[in-house]
Amino acid sequence: MLRVYLRQAAVAAAFLLHAPFTHGQGDGFDVLEFIDPFIGTANGGHSFAGATLPFGMVKAVADTEGENQGGFASDTSHVTGFSHMHDSGTGGATSMGNFPIFVHPSCPDDHLSSCSWRSSDRAVEWRRDSPKARPGYFGISLANSVHAEMTVTNHSALYRFSFPDATPGSLNPVVLVDILDLPQSRNRGSATVDPDTGRLTGSGNFNPSFGIGTYDSYFCADFQGAKIRDTGSWTNTAVAVGKNSVSIAANSSHPANKFSAGTFVRFDSMEASEVLTARVGVSFISVEQACSNAEREQPDYDFDGTVTAAETAWRNKMDVIKVDADGVSSDLQTVFWSGVYRTMISPQDYTGENPLWDSDEPYYDSFYCIWDSFRGVHQLLTLIDPLSQSRMLRSLVDIYRQEGYLPDCRMSLCKGWTQGGSNADVLISEAYLKDVAGVDWDTAYEAVVKDAEIEPQNWNVEGRGGLQSWKTLGYIPIHDIDPGTEGLRTRSVSRTVEYAYNDFCIAQMAGRMGHTDDRDKYLERSRNWRNLYKKDQTSSINSVDTNFTGFLQPRNADGSWAYQDPIFCSPLLEFTSCYLNEDGHETYEGSCWLYTFFVPQDMAALIKTLGGAEEFTSRLSFLHDSGILYLGDEQAFLTVFQFHYAGRPALSAKRAHSYIPSQFNTTVGGIPGNDDSGAMGSFAVLSMIGLFPVHGQDVYLIIAPFFKEVSIRNSATGKVATIRSTNFDPSYEAIYIQSATRDGKPWTKNWIGHDFFAEGGTLELELGPEESDWGTRIEDLPPSMSDYELDPVVERPARRPLK
Ligand SMILES: *[C@@H]1O[C@H](CO)[C@@H](O)[C@H](O)[C@H]1NC(C)=O
Ligand SMILES: *[C@@H]1O[C@H](CO)[C@@H](O)[C@H](O)[C@H]1NC(C)=O
Ligand SMILES: *[C@@H]1O[C@H](CO)[C@@H](O)[C@H](O)[C@H]1NC(C)=O
Ligand SMILES: *[C@@H]1O[C@H](CO)[C@@H](O)[C@H](O)[C@H]1NC(C)=O
Repeated sequence: MLRVYLRQAAVAAAFLLHAPFTHGQGDGFDVLEFIDPFIGTANGGHSFAGATLPFGMVKAVADTEGENQGGFASDTSHVTGFSHMHDSGTGGATSMGNFPIFVHPSCPDDHLSSCSWRSSDRAVEWRRDSPKARPGYFGISLANSVHAEMTVTNHSALYRFSFPDATPGSLNPVVLVDILDLPQSRNRGSATVDPDTGRLTGSGNFNPSFGIGTYDSYFCADFQGAKIRDTGSWTNTAVAVGKNSVSIAANSSHPANKFSAGTFVRFDSMEASEVLTARVGVSFISVEQACSNAEREQPDYDFDGTVTAAETAWRNKMDVIKVDADGVSSDLQTVFWSGVYRTMISPQDYTGENPLWDSDEPYYDSFYCIWDSFRGVHQLLTLIDPLSQSRMLRSLVDIYRQEGYLPDCRMSLCKGWTQGGSNADVLISEAYLKDVAGVDWDTAYEAVVKDAEIEPQNWNVEGRGGLQSWKTLGYIPIHDIDPGTEGLRTRSVSRTVEYAYNDFCIAQMAGRMGHTDDRDKYLERSRNWRNLYKKDQTSSINSVDTNFTGFLQPRNADGSWAYQDPIFCSPLLEFTSCYLNEDGHETYEGSCWLYTFFVPQDMAALIKTLGGAEEFTSRLSFLHDSGILYLGDEQAFLTVFQFHYAGRPALSAKRAHSYIPSQFNTTVGGIPGNDDSGAMGSFAVLSMIGLFPVHGQDVYLIIAPFFKEVSIRNSATGKVATIRSTNFDPSYEAIYIQSATRDGKPWTKNWIGHDFFAEGGTLELELGPEESDWGTRIEDLPPSMSDYELDPVVERPARRPLK
């Protein structure tokens, strides 16, 4: 299968020689000027703001005290160190941040014991306007006169420390490393310093931030720019010159385990104009590999050259997208390009760094989590970086081969918590429909069928729970008994609708692979959402009836109904009560109101069930207007565009513009929730491109792009797909499609398939300020399992003005 990919790549290379792709952004356009890594670094966005290569393993940044899931957060005040590995935008505990280094310009009175060592003591204020970040670079100034800059290769970080306002003669820098990680999860650790070379090395065993098990990590730091004066180690607050190693035993319940401890190097006096450079290699395999990673990737400690190489890598990744930004504000362009950027920070490529098994397949880590990333991240990667998308899927299939199940979440070489269904099934099925190259589809199919059929011992971290009930009752009952296996028996409603959709996706794959019995079986199971639909269920807000009747509700194993207020778990009622805890409820991070819309496989049946297109439209509008919907969780994404299914694509366009830029903007708090490995970024980008993918299907819902023109070049085939608006209106009053052509021929469907990107071509959209009847006829609606029965056009007063 690998060969197939290489052949395609060769064809692409040949094609590219003859068809250079020109940038329409104008001479002097530099995409990096429109990337702001600080977006989403406040208010819980947890975006990683530091230096990284695309999907790079090393991610260097200053670590702050506070909500530091991504290392640095803008709404903090103190820095505790600089560390080399992070995740981006995640919502669990803080990830990694192993082996932070920290620099004291000198110790008071030149006494090492007067310096502060442990992380709570050494934390130093950062200067408010000092942080600077761009792809491949992060810099910050601290109140102790240290100016720290950092850049990276795939497996090593380079730090440049300068002391612009140190008093001359007072500079005797001490660099320490701490074997306590940022989340303080260490189980054991040790560090050593070589007194001759100043090389610091060490290892430790730590916990993942949202999963089970432990992982080992290793580092290797070397310095350039100053002479070594002395070396030693420290534990907690005590420092020992000349004692060149430290070890904390394996005992996770021992209080000493939470001690900061490490080694240090003190340098001879430096001039204030001199610069100290630290090179840190990391590895999950061994200290030797950490050192060789650094030596190989950073032989010259060339800071500026490393920044330039990183910038080039990022520009090359972005180069497949071209926008005509005429009239579009620089802020919106920044929302767009920064979104693309954040989508390519994770998952991380740990190929060659996986100690768990030997394999020739790529190994990516930090699928964190697929529950978040299957609704946008991987769809965007399929368009702009099909090679990486292919490598990630191969990695997922390899994880299945080695560990027995596909993950729903995975980080730091460990199994992560599953939040709902086995949503890797959706990724895999969609990738199969979109012909992602190089994947062993037979094994991939085996993996998704196993999810659907065989319940794992611990379904908190893989597969699905309650399969016995699923197969016999056709839903997950509240308080499911599910004997013999272990898992959190909550979320019966959200798991039911996700399992139903997972089965639909498997059915599509089965159908195309010719497994017709499987197809029929899983299609049947995909109708199970109906079993939790309680048609007489009403819903009130503050005792005022919403006047919508019929919602998903929990159900007992005997078929009788249980009850959960349909707005429970929405921002209007107990929003924070529905996480992965023992007393979590029947829907996960969202309400029955919201989950009632989760039938992407059969929107025709859902619309009929909810009372027809007009009633559906008004219910979906109510969801958006009432405060029930929280856009900061990924289940909200598709609801912005589901008006398409009721024949009202104009309403989807209107909603997209109501959320961008009001909830996606260039401020440090400019995303509505955790970025979740780029999920929020991918939503903004896909919405602005104007083709919003329905996850799991070969379907993109069409709205007008936020640009006059957007082109995407498939880097594997060289084919270019262009979406162009005529009458483009940068004030966004004329955002409604009046008519469309594809390669010059009328295109009346309100959706398009992936063949548009695979084959290339031009979709031209004529825009106007009012809703039209483009894309509103039954034959123009997106695919659905059932036939659309009610004519949405007939039910709708034509061309009414949109408010
Ligand atoms: C970094 O890793 C990526 C694969 O994830 C690879 O394509 C790239 O060439 C690597 N960069 C360098 C400088 O080796
Ligand atoms: C671990 O530390 C705890 C708390 O100090 C102690 O009670 C326990 O005996 C230790 N366990 C081992 C195996 O050393
Ligand atoms: C539902 O209908 C009642 C009766 O007409 C009305 O008082 C109430 O305001 C309506 N609810 C909403 C949310 O509009
Ligand atoms: C920017 O986005 C954030 C997060 O969604 C939102 O709270 C804020 O109001 C927005 N700011 C502006 C100026 O639109």
